Amino acid sequence: TLADGKRHFLDLTEVSGADLRIVLDEAARLKRVRRGAFRGEGPLAGKVLAMIFERPSTRTRVSFDVGMRELGGETLMLTGDEMQLGRGETIADTARVLSRFVDAIMIRILDHSALLELAENATVPVINGLTKLSHPCQIMADVMTFEEHRGPIAGKTVAWVGDTNNVLASWIHAAARFDFHLRIATPPELAPKMDLVNWARRHGASVHLTADAYEAVEGADCVTTDTWVSMGDDESERRHNLLKPFQVNARLMAAANPDAIFMHCLPAHRDEEVTGEVIDGPQSVVFDEAENRLHAQKGVLAWCLGAEGV
Ligand code: CP
Ligand code: NVA
Repeated sequence: TLADGKRHFLDLTEVSGADLRIVLDEAARLKRVRRGAFRGEGPLAGKVLAMIFERPSTRTRVSFDVGMRELGGETLMLTGDEMQLGRGETIADTARVLSRFVDAIMIRILDHSALLELAENATVPVINGLTKLSHPCQIMADVMTFEEHRGPIAGKTVAWVGDTNNVLASWIHAAARFDFHLRIATPPELAPKMDLVNWARRHGASVHLTADAYEAVEGADCVTTDTWVSMGDDESERRHNLLKPFQVNARLMAAANPDAIFMHCLPAHRDEEVTGEVIDGPQSVVFDEAENRLHAQKGVLAWCLGAEGV
């Protein structure tokens, strides 16, 4: 545990529903006051966020960087191979050293156990900026986006169609934390692990699994998907073959509720997991969703540093 009421943001499983709601309320408040409002004297003035990227990023990198600045703080961009980490310095020592210099650490690293080791050894908040297992910051932005377009997500239905990956795992966690129905269609070979689904069900989530994309989108208020080949995945050809029937196209969207929105964390591959017609069409909210990474992350940063409502 951290001193002074500070907290890590590692996964939706590790934060209560009430605290996640505080983060989203803070995100919405900061979105209203928006840019420049605090520059130089904001709630995180004088604070420095170190950002470690072991893998590429556009949205996560830019939204944390700009978000931190908009709250009056500063960022340091570090890549794994520019650090001694790339030459074998341990994650634990890296955590101890960085904790002496900076006020928080955001990390994107495929190895989830490295994230946990960083958090265990850091004395400043650690934020999960994507691992192979989860992507909680993305789903905070997604819940925020859904609610801006369709009102409270509790009791609504979200359909995920495609691969099982980090983004789906955080959707599954969120179904328990935010009380919506989650309907998941994947090829059986790529179905989510039952321990993940059982965790959510034990925590009250309604999660339906199927191998039929049309069954998943029935009654859905939101249809969402993601790339067929995530960072660190091999067997790209096998995945493409298995996932072809899970493309989100106009015909599939027409089987969801008529006012369903389409979300995608991006980057997208048009005419693979989603057709251009859908992602560039009237039901798509993907750029609102991308923008909300900024606002949701400001909520997360403020919450982690004990500065929400400041
Ligand atoms: N959605 C998302 O995390 O995008 P980046 O990989 O660009 O950060
Ligand atoms: N599932 C994707 C998300 C990218 C933001 C990946 O892990 O590559």
